[in-house]
Amino acid sequence: MCGIVGYVGEKQCTDILVGALQKLEYRGYDSAGIAVFSNDRIKTIKAKGKIAEGLIERLKSEGPYAATTGIGHTRWATHGEPSDINSHPIGNGRVCIVHNGIIENYRKVKEFLTDKGYGFESETDTETVAKLLDYNYSGNPLDTIIKTIADIEGAYALGIIFREHKEHIYAVRKESPLIVGKGEGEMFIASDVTAIIEHTKEYYLLEQGEIADITKDGVKFYDVHKNPIEKEIQVADWDVSAAEKGGYAHFMLKEITEQPTALKNTIHPRIKDGMPDFTECCLTDDKLRKYHHIYIVGCGSAMHAGIVGKYVIESLARTPVIVDIASEFKYRSPLLTPDDLVVIISQSGETADTKAALKLANDIGADTLAIVNVVGSSIAREAKMVMYTLAGPEISVCSTKAYMVQAAFMYLLAFRVAYARSRIDEATCKQLVAEMLEIPAKVQSCVDNQEQYQKVASRLISADSLLYIGRGLDYALSMEGSLKLKEISYIHSESYAAGELKHGTISLIDEGMPVIAVATQGNLLDKTLSNVKEVKSRGATVVLVCKEDMDISGCGVDYPVYLPVARDLLMPLVAVVPLQLIAYYTAVLKNCDVDHPRNLAKSVTVE
Ligand code: AGP
Repeated sequence: MCGIVGYVGEKQCTDILVGALQKLEYRGYDSAGIAVFSNDRIKTIKAKGKIAEGLIERLKSEGPYAATTGIGHTRWATHGEPSDINSHPIGNGRVCIVHNGIIENYRKVKEFLTDKGYGFESETDTETVAKLLDYNYSGNPLDTIIKTIADIEGAYALGIIFREHKEHIYAVRKESPLIVGKGEGEMFIASDVTAIIEHTKEYYLLEQGEIADITKDGVKFYDVHKNPIEKEIQVADWDVSAAEKGGYAHFMLKEITEQPTALKNTIHPRIKDGMPDFTECCLTDDKLRKYHHIYIVGCGSAMHAGIVGKYVIESLARTPVIVDIASEFKYRSPLLTPDDLVVIISQSGETADTKAALKLANDIGADTLAIVNVVGSSIAREAKMVMYTLAGPEISVCSTKAYMVQAAFMYLLAFRVAYARSRIDEATCKQLVAEMLEIPAKVQSCVDNQEQYQKVASRLISADSLLYIGRGLDYALSMEGSLKLKEISYIHSESYAAGELKHGTISLIDEGMPVIAVATQGNLLDKTLSNVKEVKSRGATVVLVCKEDMDISGCGVDYPVYLPVARDLLMPLVAVVPLQLIAYYTAVLKNCDVDHPRNLAKSVTVE
């Protein structure tokens, strides 16, 4: 996902822009650049690679530039390989832009402009927008922008500067998020508040189709008919330290460590008189009683939290739950009706696949509940109901605390649905909630006991491939464990239903192949341990994640990982921590870029 920043004010802006871009590095990128007004000209400095090695080195050799207005960009390539020429900002001497999103009709626009005599240097879709702005330029930037966006299709957040208007930055948004930050005698644009929180906590959310004309004294908003729009200021409810490592080696480790607090912050405000409380989003018991099916839709870890939700909701509430990978949901013609509830899970609230699933659910007329971490994000605003996970900003590309609180929400929803449908009585519901409130302390003890995970990691780093196995909730959880390892250590792994191994996959087991078994469900322990013996007898090295009160003697486990005891139903919230830390330490031992894994972005805003 690309990152956009911009500054207009009285300070020198080059370092401000670069610093803001560095705060967006967590989004994933392959090149970066800035464009500033210097000596009445637009000066663009950009480079492939990381900011420190690319852009900053380029500025050292070419700059510095005296400038108080400019835009900046981190690029996650969609059209055109990572290269200097394909980096943003892109434009010519008259207009220059930064873009996050995809222009779907860029080929048609490019043909039109080529016929008008325009040449193209880059392979990007963005360049067609820059050149179309130039072609439409009338001397009035607002008219130029309105005319241009009428001819482009797709998703975009644009930061735009015009040479003849050097005290202005313009911003326009369709689908991809963009905010306008409000300072004292200075204004900003940014893809998210993380980029500018050290300068200001106040910002405006740019809505679909809105255009912002920004000077150092303030901002004017317009719709595509040039009608002025009044907007409310938003205030970020966290400070800059939350978006910094705070002494940890990586954001991922910091965010794993924050999980007990994130759980408390998310759960406690949703407990009223000992019961799960969804009144903040008007999800009433009457509604919960009427739904025929509950769909849970998300991507990656968010989808994995949904799978835990399926097991818990169906076991407690006996309500049919269908979990869909968001990118499949839209294309499989789901049997969704207006009598169903669709729960949309997303940390960023900007994942394109998930947004598309939400749109389908809304179009069909189903009730939609978004469980989102980023306040004011697109999914939060487009769902009929929204509940925010209050985990604070999750900077590491690898989701940990966001998954934790998403899964926690699944439990609260399961308890409430079961109670609303009279599957459990109030006393039972309150007991489940009370035990849930004890989970943060159990998570804390897992976080405190990291040596055993480091030992396991030292065994895994030489593996070519490994299996995660489990049954029931343990199988649901093993999917998340496998994804963590893959995405940050680049070691292939696969989660597999333990009982299914013997139907083919067990042929993969050979001498020394690691198998991580999860066994927290008492009623399935014996069966999972027999699967452990099956793989052990074929030469596997077995890591077993189980409760400390479980008897695993005689199973030949090489690396037991013991967990504090909680109700079986709640154990995924505890057992996920070792899986996160095993992946983390494996990636560290392999000297991987833990917070910015190759090929990945924090939020994938393209389908
Ligand atoms: C998980 O570690 C990954 N970062 C990825 O699978 C992520 O969960 C997925 O892309 C969904 O992102 P979202 O929650 O922001 O929608």
